[in-house]
Amino acid sequence: MNQEQWTAVDGYFNQALIPPDSGLEATRHANREAGLPAIDVSPNQGRLLHLIARIQGARRILEIGTLGGYSTIWLAKALPRDGRLVTLEADPRHAAVARENIARAGLGPLVDVRIGEALPALVRVKADYPEPFDLIFIDADKANTPEYFKWALALARPGTVIIVDNVVRKGEVANAATTDPEALGMRRFTELLAKETKVTATAIQTVGSKGYDGFVIARVD
Ligand code: SAH
Ligand code: DHB
Ligand code: MG
Repeated sequence: MNQEQWTAVDGYFNQALIPPDSGLEATRHANREAGLPAIDVSPNQGRLLHLIARIQGARRILEIGTLGGYSTIWLAKALPRDGRLVTLEADPRHAAVARENIARAGLGPLVDVRIGEALPALVRVKADYPEPFDLIFIDADKANTPEYFKWALALARPGTVIIVDNVVRKGEVANAATTDPEALGMRRFTELLAKETKVTATAIQTVGSKGYDGFVIARVD
């Protein structure tokens, strides 16, 4: 098994199961043109997020780490007309591209893109959105994932789904001697999750066009 095969199989299911979507395709194109790093979720992963949001019946979604809004658009498409998605992005250039992409996809009225470091922004999100979020997707700077998870719990209700991207990092998460700050962030997050009695969680390893990584999926009990 190798990267070439993972990419081919990802492409096969992508082509077979995901109808072309002009908003999503324009977003990938605009992100490339703007020179954004190609680290958004893959199409099959975007659809997984979309499906989980629909299965959950999510009306309020929080995303930490917008980039160009590709995952944002997948998630926002799962919302009802009166739904809301708040997404936090530190880089103003990324946020500007995301706003354009989200508006082009016709989702502007549903999405609140907030520019700034996520930790201070979360204080204001809690003040501005008194109702809990139904789904929270954490996908920003990996070292701060433990802090984002604590915030996710503070903004959740029993039944809220929390999804964390990039928890495997090519397997480095299982290396107890790792010095990689991203893997260390995910190990600390996993320790926190393990101690949290109010949450049921698992991790799924993924391969595909983005290589070898994974998600944590958790439900607040
Ligand atoms: N969710 C996106 C990918 C996000 S990439 C998608 O799948 O389409 C991670 C993003 O987090 C980058 O745009 C980066 O600028 C942003 N980021 C990094 N550190 C941050 C911080 N401290 N606060 C908010 N955003 C941050
Ligand atoms: C990478 C992938 C991601 O999904 C992300 O959020 C950040 C970085 C990467 O492959 O480097
Ligand atoms: Mg990611």
